[in-house]
Amino acid sequence: MKLQINDSVRDVDADGDTPLLWVLRDDLGLTGTKYGCGLAQCGACAVMMDGRLVRSCVTPVEMAAGKKIATIEAIEADDLGKRVVVAWVKHQVPQCGYCQSGQVMAATALLKQNPHPSDADIAAAMGNLCRCGTYNAIRAAIQDLAKDGEQV
Ligand code: FES
Ligand code: FES
Repeated sequence: MKLQINDSVRDVDADGDTPLLWVLRDDLGLTGTKYGCGLAQCGACAVMMDGRLVRSCVTPVEMAAGKKIATIEAIEADDLGKRVVVAWVKHQVPQCGYCQSGQVMAATALLKQNPHPSDADIAAAMGNLCRCGTYNAIRAAIQDLAKDGEQV
């Protein structure tokens, strides 16, 4: 099957019910997307499919056919994604970093949908788990971006 990933078309030989996460990591070597729980609970595996955030550990690869998949590897090709990364660096968000690709994808998806999220919107959208407890820094980075929403 052909998948459109980060603006290139990739040929993948996988059963349709294989989780997209396995295809990204094992078949395509896109290891920026992480495996955490495998149960749609932690958000470590979040990627975008046609601009919508999905948890790739529970998304069968056949659902990705014909859609545009964006992973953390290409986040800086997106103007907003790049601004999110800059804010992450400014606020020194990552600790061990394991959860952060999913966090950045979730923050980018939130700001694409809602350039001026309130604190409640941020709390509702950012359900990703972080073992290192970087939640305050994540919120501060998103609040910064929300303030300059016009330029986002
Ligand atoms: S690995 Fe997919 S949500 Fe945890
Ligand atoms: S930065 Fe370590 S799990 Fe989030």
